[in-house]
Amino acid sequence: GPEGRYEVESAAGVCQGAIESNHAGYSGTGFCNGDQAVGAYAEFTVSPEDDTTTAVGIRFANGSTSARPANVIVNETTVDTLSFEPTGSWSTWSTVSVPVSLNEGGHTIRIDPTTAAGLPNVDYLDL
Ligand code: GCU
Repeated sequence: GPEGRYEVESAAGVCQGAIESNHAGYSGTGFCNGDQAVGAYAEFTVSPEDDTTTAVGIRFANGSTSARPANVIVNETTVDTLSFEPTGSWSTWSTVSVPVSLNEGGHTIRIDPTTAAGLPNVDYLDL
């Protein structure tokens, strides 16, 4: 979207796990390898300039053979659940988008895994 890109390794990002760079193709300086646990989230603090309903894009890689489902939680409210299907390898990145309504000002957008496998590797969020 027009508002901008939020790298998970930037000050706007939180990674419950480790920022790593051992799989090629990520943007910026790394990606979030979340802990393999329910609730081991990646979170982005975003500040849209206007009230907006926009497609939020999440770039990820899932080199495992199973989906890595996660809730999308905006300001503590779950707005969707995404499946994060396998991408074929840990260096093959894909983007999913989800429509989100945001008021002007600060928001947290949390990607919160619902299974013990945890998140896929997460690169950035586009607003
Ligand atoms: C591998 C891979 C990691 C990934 C992990 C996982 O260890 O190297 O980047 O996060 O699998 O299954 O989540």
